[in-house]
This record gives sequence, structure tokens and C-alpha cells, in this order.
Amino acid sequence: MLNFEFHNPTRIVFGQDTTSSLHELVPRNARVLILYGGQSAERNGTLAEVRKALGDRTHYEFGGIEPNPTFETLTKAVGQVHARDIDFLLAIGGGSVIDGTKFVAAAAKYAGDPWHILETVGSVVQEALPFGAVLTLSATGSEMNFNAVVTRKATQTKAFFASPHVFPQFSILDPTKTYTLPPRQLANGVIDAFTHVVEQYLTYPVEARVQDRFAEGLLQTLIEIGPKVVHDPADYDSRANMMWAAAMTLNGLIGAGVPQDWATHLVGHELTALYGLDHARTLAIVLPSMLRVRREGKRAKLLQYAERVWHITTGSEDARIDLAIEKTRDFFESLDVGTHLSDYGIAADAIEGLVQQLQAHGMTQLGEHSDVTLETSREVFEASL
Ligand code: NZQ
Ligand code: ZN
Repeated sequence: MLNFEFHNPTRIVFGQDTTSSLHELVPRNARVLILYGGQSAERNGTLAEVRKALGDRTHYEFGGIEPNPTFETLTKAVGQVHARDIDFLLAIGGGSVIDGTKFVAAAAKYAGDPWHILETVGSVVQEALPFGAVLTLSATGSEMNFNAVVTRKATQTKAFFASPHVFPQFSILDPTKTYTLPPRQLANGVIDAFTHVVEQYLTYPVEARVQDRFAEGLLQTLIEIGPKVVHDPADYDSRANMMWAAAMTLNGLIGAGVPQDWATHLVGHELTALYGLDHARTLAIVLPSMLRVRREGKRAKLLQYAERVWHITTGSEDARIDLAIEKTRDFFESLDVGTHLSDYGIAADAIEGLVQQLQAHGMTQLGEHSDVTLETSREVFEASL
């Protein structure tokens, strides 16, 4: 096992009808800015519940944070924070709103050009405003981690930062909040959570038995509940398991003491930046080809994945690996998510532009061995057509 430090200070308040606990969680004298996305939080009544729970605290609202939140929109929210003398932020939404709130929290306390926060991957962040979240979409794990992804529209750059100063102080996880999600977002959630586990598990063995078993348990849970979450009418137990599984995939626990990959995510970001594909759809396209192209470096873990997650125990090593990758693709497709570029109208002539963007963003040595070069990424795109 590799050396590690593990620290996660986010208080999780989990269960039905827990939004009212904001009343105790938000400081009494706080001047609050509520941040949200489009119309969903207003339409499903979450915003009304939040306003009620805040009671007579002074609060303002900033709506319109887009999926794949933009730097351009978020800097307007930073202006609101300063103009209204805000000292507490409250995010109501999925990964985009929570990530956006992390950026606003850090940028509000940063004196220089806020884009430096992304350029330095967060190392310039010395402090941030405190904030909490009410989660309405299970997928990214942002509710319980210190990462955020922000897109600069002007340059089509999707960049991330991480800083221990932007852990949410608390996150309210009420599974019933996900009942209004459309199948597309539910499927995205399952695939994003699944891929987070794979990025931290399917690398090379380091005798990290606890992390491996946790990771395999999360993958098996997602395989069991994924089709129910997407295809069946909303039921509490599936949504509760989905919500907790997604948070657990990226709160630092399974990634502690193990090598991590993240090439699928970073290559996928270029597809979102150039073609606007949902984050999880980029993962559904890239992951199966990434595993196929990099099968030698990942051989031992691919065999473990085949056996323990998909129960494949017969056939040659290569046949077992092929079948495990095929089952991964079939699982994504069973959730009605296309796994090829052509499913999204993207053809071979797009590949050069995607590779150039990877180069422009310095994505030239990715993966657990830093051996995913631009040529490897090109091969992955070609295998994804
Ligand atoms: O904008 P509104 O109207 O609220 O609608 C949203 C949005 O259109 C809708 N939605 C959310 N909750 C709903 C709902 N609709 C009905 N009922 C509800 N209860 O869902 C749409 C998508 O929301 P979004 O927040 O964009 O989705 P997601 O949670 O998948 O977040 C994606 C973003 O998170 C980043 C991604 O790159 C992407 O920008 N990620 C963040 C990570 C992190 N912080 O650790 C890790 C991930 O790998 C990921 O990169
Ligand atoms: Zn993700």
C-alpha cells in the first residue's frame, strides 16, 4: 500500500426530510448567498424548503449556474458576494452547482485573477468562504470532496482545481430530491460514479486489500441498482443506495494509498469542452476503449476486475479481459447511453482537433504510469469511433 493521509471534514446529513436541518447547520448570523442552476430547484420545491429553513437569516439568491459551470457565470456570483457582503454560501443542485460554489468560495477570497485558481490547480487558494450543499443529483461526489471543475467558455477549456479549503462544511443528502431527475441524468450518475471507482481501482496492484474490496463493493452495488435507478419508477431504497454509493466513490476513501489513473476523465473533458457532451457520456465513450488500448499496463487488475466484479473465471487471460471490457460497455448501454463517438454524431475528422486540445491543455502524460501520451489518446479516440 502507498503512504497516505486521509481527512474528510464534510458532515453528511442523510435521509428523507432533512433539508429543514439547514436551520441548525447554517450559522445564525450568516449572510447567505444561495446558488442554484436552472429551473429544477424552484420547480421541485427544494428552493422553497431552503428559504423556509433559513428563517429570518439575511439571504440572497444567484441562479443560472449551467451544467459544466462556466467561469464567466461564476465570476458574476463572486461580484454578488462582494456587493452583498456575503459570508456563507449554500449550493442547491448537482455537481455543477456545487463545483461552481467551490470556485466562488475560493475566488471571493483570492485577490488576483481568479483564473489563476484553475491554472495552478488550486495551489494559490489559501482560504475560502464556508459553504454547505443540498444535493439534488447523485453522480460526481462533489458533495463530499474538495475538487471542482470549471469551464472557460471563451477558450473552450475545462479545467479543475482541488483545495482542502473547499470541502463543503456539510451536505444534505435526501434521496427523495432525486425523484424528479430525468432518465438521462440518472444514467449519467450511475456511469460517473462507476467510472470514479474504476479510475482509482483499475490500475496496478499494491496489496491494498481494503481499498480493493471497498471499490469492488461499490462497483457491484452500482451494477445491481443502476438499471433500477434508470428504468424503474423512483423508489427510496434504490435512490438512497445510489446517493450514498456516489458520495463514497470520490470522498477520498477508496483512493487513499492506491495509484490513480484519471486519464478517462481528462480525455473526456475535451469532448465536453468541444462538443458539449454530458460529462458521464464522455466517460461511457472513452472508458471501454481506454481499457482496451492500455490492457497490458492494467493486466493484473483487469483480471481481478473480471473475476471479482463480473464473476468471469474461465477462458484464457485475454478472453477474460475482453469479456470484462465488453460487459462494462454492455452495462453502460443497458442504461441507454451510447458508448461510441458515432452515437453522438462525432466522426474521425474530429480526432485531430481533440488531440490538439489535449496538447494545448498539457494533457500529454496521463494515467497511473504517466504513459498515456497524445498518441495513446489518439488511439483511444480511434477505438471509440
Ligand atoms: O440546472 P437545473 O435546472 O438545476 O437542472 C440540472 C441540470 O440540467 C438537472 N438537475 C439537477 N438536479 C435535478 C435536476 N433535474 C431534475 N431534478 C433534480 N433533482 O440536471 C442537470 C445536470 O446537472 P449537473 O449538476 O450538471 O450534473 P452532474 O451532477 O452530473 O455534474 C456534472 C459536473 O460535475 C463535474 C463534471 O465535470 C460536470 O461539470 N464533476 C465534478 C467532480 C468533482 N467535483 O469531484 C468529479 C466529476 O468527475 C465531474 O468531473
Ligand atoms: Zn466524473
